[in-house]
Amino acid sequence: MGNIVAIDGPAGSGKSTVSRSLARELGFLYLDTGAMYRAAALAAQRRFGSRLPGEERLGAFCRSLDVHFLNETDPPRLFLGEEDVSTAIRTPQMDILSSNLSAIPEVRWAMVSLQRGIAASADLVAEGRDMGTVVFPRAQHKFFLTASPETRARRRWQERLDRGEDAVFETVLIELKRRDRQDENRPVAPLRPAQDATLIDTDGMEVDAVLEALLKIIKNY
Ligand code: DC
Repeated sequence: MGNIVAIDGPAGSGKSTVSRSLARELGFLYLDTGAMYRAAALAAQRRFGSRLPGEERLGAFCRSLDVHFLNETDPPRLFLGEEDVSTAIRTPQMDILSSNLSAIPEVRWAMVSLQRGIAASADLVAEGRDMGTVVFPRAQHKFFLTASPETRARRRWQERLDRGEDAVFETVLIELKRRDRQDENRPVAPLRPAQDATLIDTDGMEVDAVLEALLKIIKNY
């Protein structure tokens, strides 16, 4: 396995932007594992609609998916087979469906095996919910980014507005809290910091300041 920097945290903690910049700085590959759960959710919704099958069948379905990144662009594009689904996975519906699906152990095993496969041949900055706890417990560096629900919801709300969507702050906040609760309380690989992770509260911090803090820790190691 290559060098791994594991970055976990809840939605809107700033981990995607920071992970991407960090990967660029270090010359590592950026791995967005949330995007993989989103792709699985999109594929499952297209295949089964709202009536998801049992866990075993869903697991087999997820194992059969061709989920892969093309890393020539920054951010990398995510493909389901031949189709670029990078935009289709970023909807409020996929926010909650990916969270629902990610609570299912069989789905997780399928994604974890893909993630470890990618790590076999590359140095990674891997971001998600369980990078430091489950997927890469021996990562060289582990960070857990957090911020208040209001700050995180404001970031998500702004992203939606920037994409030209019609979003209401209060709704974004309610949905974000609901997803946090779900991700933190699932029995398998719940969202929580690894014991040896460095916690960083990004409230009131610009991306560059967070990036600098991470780089300082990594370089002084
Ligand atoms: O990071 P994100 O919001 O794109 O992730 C979407 C969902 O996927 C999130 O609600 C929980 C799940 N997820 C997970 O369970 N484990 C990961 N390593 C990454 C994401």
